[in-house]
Amino acid sequence: MPLRNKKIILGISGGIAAYKAAELTRLLVKAGADVRVVMTAAAEAFITPMTLQALSGHEVRGALFDPAHEAAMGHIELARWADLIVIAPASANTLARLAQGLADDLLSTLCLANPNPVMAAPAMNQQMWTHPATQRNMSLLTQRGVQLIGPASGEQACGDTGPGRMEEPATILAAVTAHFGEQQLAGRKLLLTLGPTREPLDPVRFLSNRSSGKMGMALARAAVNAGADVTIVAGPTALPEPQGVKRINVETAAQMHHHVMQEAAGKDIFIATAAVSDYRAADISAQKIKKSAEQIELTLVKNPDILADVSASFPQLFCVGFAAETQDLEKHARDKLTNKRLDMIAANPVNDGLGFDRDDNSLEVFWPGGQQSLPVSSKQQLAAALIELLANHYNKDHKRHASD
Ligand SMILES: Cc1cc2nc3c(=O)[nH]c(=O)nc-3n(C[C@H](O)[C@H](O)[C@H](O)COP(=O)(O)O)c2cc1C
Repeated sequence: MPLRNKKIILGISGGIAAYKAAELTRLLVKAGADVRVVMTAAAEAFITPMTLQALSGHEVRGALFDPAHEAAMGHIELARWADLIVIAPASANTLARLAQGLADDLLSTLCLANPNPVMAAPAMNQQMWTHPATQRNMSLLTQRGVQLIGPASGEQACGDTGPGRMEEPATILAAVTAHFGEQQLAGRKLLLTLGPTREPLDPVRFLSNRSSGKMGMALARAAVNAGADVTIVAGPTALPEPQGVKRINVETAAQMHHHVMQEAAGKDIFIATAAVSDYRAADISAQKIKKSAEQIELTLVKNPDILADVSASFPQLFCVGFAAETQDLEKHARDKLTNKRLDMIAANPVNDGLGFDRDDNSLEVFWPGGQQSLPVSSKQQLAAALIELLANHYNKDHKRHASD
């Protein structure tokens, strides 16, 4: 129960993503938080207070001028009660009002009257998000210490594609948990590979695999939340990186190998989540291969083993591998752990529909002399659990591994 005894005001403003606030309420309560929901008038056009009352176990508040509530827990008392105010979704309008320091409804008044931090998960149409007025408001708010969660990029309810989607409830929960948690990797430098690689056959074709990079990006976010300074070497994926992460984009295994070997010096932890092609074409055709013969032969040559090379060349690094397996999970994972001299390996079954390009997964984590199962959950929750496990082991052993 990472949020046990934490008092949180969940502010919901008027955006289409308000329906996701129901799931967020459930997750916060499940994590042990005492949640009081405060809705703007516009939010009530999108989701009913009744739903949030049922999920939070407390009456939902909306009006500022409410004699009954003022007699019980007045607005200043409510503001003082909260350890944290989380606004999700945060509409363009609510963010603008906060930036100006307005106090013309209950939520904005609470934000002014609460001495503790405010976190906001913006959610709006991409044009509204990129508008200079919104951007100026955001920079005012972040300068003032408001912590932003997202927004994510992608397809929007209005049909547009771009930045402005509210982060998923699991991601918001992870950020809230990290806010209260001890930053177990504070000051540590972490290098992570993610996504697939592409091995060209000719100018238009390549060999690749089903990796989406979602697990790697979730781990990068969890590592940032744990206080790490994160660099990612990413194979082709359209996923945006979390704020504050240094990103190097690559296509082939050879390029990934090159950049990882360059970046590994001075790092403390290396996590290899990328699904690197084991083989590449011996010859890349300069011209598009034409359809003529009934059968053609493709000669493949072995790619460098990034994880093995990193662990051999940088013995100070705490190395974590990933193994996607369709059978004999434990045996293959333990062999890889020993052969590549890793500190930890996370194995995931990629049959039964689990694994690639999904938002949930399960992991079986092995280290020399131990193992732990992380059951099926969202990749963001799984990533937070894996980073916590990794940090526990790393910190126990940090004298051997720490670079400082
Ligand atoms: C169908 C519909 C969807 C909307 N979705 C959003 C949204 O996702 N984000 C946003 O900032 N505003 C959105 N708006 C506009 C806000 O609801 C409006 O600016 C409102 O004044 C916000 O009030 P509040 O910030 O007090 O909650 C939407 C409006 C409508 C009619």
